[in-house]
Order: sequence, then C-alpha cells, then structure tokens
Amino acid sequence: MALRNIVTEGDPILRKKSRTIEEITPRIVKLLDDMAETMYYDNRGIGLAAVQVGVLRRAFVVDIGDEHGRINFINPEITSTEGEQRCSEGCLSVPGKGGEVMRPMKIHVKALDIDGNPFEMDAEGLLADCICHEYDHLDGILFTDKAIPGTVEAVERE
Ligand code: NI
Repeated sequence: MALRNIVTEGDPILRKKSRTIEEITPRIVKLLDDMAETMYYDNRGIGLAAVQVGVLRRAFVVDIGDEHGRINFINPEITSTEGEQRCSEGCLSVPGKGGEVMRPMKIHVKALDIDGNPFEMDAEGLLADCICHEYDHLDGILFTDKAIPGTVEAVERE
C-alpha cells in the first residue's frame, strides 16, 4: 500500500462526476487499499472517495471506528433515506474548515465490495452521514455546498 496525495478544494477534478467501475482489477483493489491507508494516515479521516486522490471512479472507503471497520463501496447507490439529522462535517479535501449539514438519519445503500460481490446495508447516524458525504463526492459535491448558511468556519487541527 502507498499513501496518495489528497486533492484539495480549488482543483477542478473535485467538481467532476466519477465514472462507474466496469471491472474490479488489481489496480482498483490497490486504489482502495491506498485510499484506506491515506485516510488512516490522517487521524481525522473517516471516509475518502477516489476522486479525492485524483481518480474519477465511483468508489469510496469509510471507517467510522465502529464494529464494521473499513467498508469499501464500489458503484454505490443510496436506494432510500429516512428522517433527518444535523451533522458537523469536515473533509480532507477542504482542510481547515468545518460546517453543519442536514443529512438523512437513516439510509439504505447497495454497492459492490472489493471482491466484486454485491452487498446492501442499512446505516444510521454518523455512518449514514459519512456515506452520504462520500457519495456526494462521486457527483462533484462538497459538504460546503450543502452547509447550513453561516455554519462554515475555520477549525483548528488538534
Ligand atoms: Ni469529503
């Protein structure tokens, strides 16, 4: 595995729509492993999308530190949402900023895992928030686009 450079706000690639992955090649597996390593390297990372390392493919990794551990999502689809929650978010591609975003409280998501097997899961709370945030990256959306007006502010790193 290797660390990859994280693309930050202002780079036009973050605004592009990521493409569906047709085949899970060893290159894609390495991409996801590298993304996870890059995310863990920054102790605030709980999710990272492929576009954030400059690859326009529909994939992201998530690990909120719960019993699921690392979850790989390839070609994900959020198929239903329920309720609402107000979330405090940050993003490795928007360093130094935090903000609050309204997200669904619960979601149902379908995707392929790193072996190409389809899976689906329900997620709620922080996990639902994180998946929605990463999912937005696949369509060129940043949390600052959706932030509740007046909530985006500079945050200091601990
Ligand atoms: Ni992000």
